[in-house]
Amino acid sequence: MSAASTVLVSTRDGSYPVVVGHDLLGSLTDHLTLPEGVAAALIVTEEGILEAGHVTPVEQCLRRIEIDVHRAIVPTGEPAKQVGVLTELWRAAAQVPLSRRDLVVAVGGGVVGDLAGFAAAAFNRGIGVLQVPTTLLGQVDAAIGGKTGINLPEGKNLVGAFHQPVGVVCDIAALRTLDERILREGFGEIVKYGLIRDPSILELLESGPVEPSDRDLLTELVLRSVRVKAEVVGADVREHGERAHLNLGHTFGHAVETLTAYQTVLHGEAVAIGTVVALHLGVRLGHTEPSLVGRVEDLFTRLGLPIRPPVLDRDEVWTVMARDKKADRDGVRFVVLEDVGRPTVIVPDPSDVNAVLDRLAG
Ligand SMILES: NC(=O)c1ccc[n+]([C@@H]2O[C@H](COP(=O)([O-])OP(=O)(O)OC[C@H]3O[C@@H](n4cnc5c(N)ncnc54)[C@H](O)[C@@H]3O)[C@@H](O)[C@H]2O)c1
Repeated sequence: MSAASTVLVSTRDGSYPVVVGHDLLGSLTDHLTLPEGVAAALIVTEEGILEAGHVTPVEQCLRRIEIDVHRAIVPTGEPAKQVGVLTELWRAAAQVPLSRRDLVVAVGGGVVGDLAGFAAAAFNRGIGVLQVPTTLLGQVDAAIGGKTGINLPEGKNLVGAFHQPVGVVCDIAALRTLDERILREGFGEIVKYGLIRDPSILELLESGPVEPSDRDLLTELVLRSVRVKAEVVGADVREHGERAHLNLGHTFGHAVETLTAYQTVLHGEAVAIGTVVALHLGVRLGHTEPSLVGRVEDLFTRLGLPIRPPVLDRDEVWTVMARDKKADRDGVRFVVLEDVGRPTVIVPDPSDVNAVLDRLAG
């Protein structure tokens, strides 16, 4: 059996394992126990994952324990996160038919995970979902914590549900087939975990060249990131308090993604740009130690991530940020850092945000 480490995510409603290791797809049921009574599974995936060869081992593994396995293919990329695709998934589940004890299995990146998770959250008023993330971003972030959902033309992830998975399996070997840019965007979230909670992540990234093919380094980074996410979401499932710190870089980052139609800037790249904006804002308002800005900008640059915003219409930026779930009646909230490991949430005056954006544009 291949070696793997398990991190438990403990919430008020129970706990579930996140398994991290190599070559796990064909043996995932050796590493976690499925809920009792699962007789059928609907694997939700997309063509890219299928072509990369990651679906067949999962299917074979489930069939070995006599689960009746079905497959639903969703379109590739962000446009798949829409209600029409969700309806197709519910109909596929009904045609199996999946009972309340059966499983949806998401094999793919954050898009597949968000969609399949939401489909499972509502089908039969909620059935189990097993998350098998195949992107770095999916492994360190999207698959853990139970946030699921779809986009509307008005904004990203505006409709969804909290639905914790029955388990998460992060196979580092599955990352080998990823396009390098898509692999690298995952570092945007990994740096975020280092900044809000675990300085050892930053030290590991700064200690030498970061080669995407370095499987031991990737395993260690995924494991440490999973631990941070597990601790934070376990303490605050519904984002009333500490979980909001995970939004470092996301307030402006989501505006970048929305206004570039989720196409030119990838999610993790937008988070890197948003983190830099938050750091400059923190320095301007006297919260952040100025030397942190250069340190983080250097790190993102070494990791191949952007650190400056694209040209965007400022009014549109504010419209999107105000519509974001991180906004409330007081205004648009930003996570800023007092230092590494000391995040805090502020509602800045828009003129300060605009001054930072002007400076970064110049
Ligand atoms: N639920 C959450 O908490 C949460 C957190 C962060 C991000 N997200 C969501 O995640 C989504 C982004 O996820 P993503 O970056 O994983 O993008 P993605 O799911 O679109 O995957 C990116 C691309 O990689 C390809 N791919 C995936 N795995 C592969 C593999 N192993 N080999 C070859 N190709 C592979 C896919 O076909 C796709 O083209 C966004 O919709 C974002 O909103 C959700």
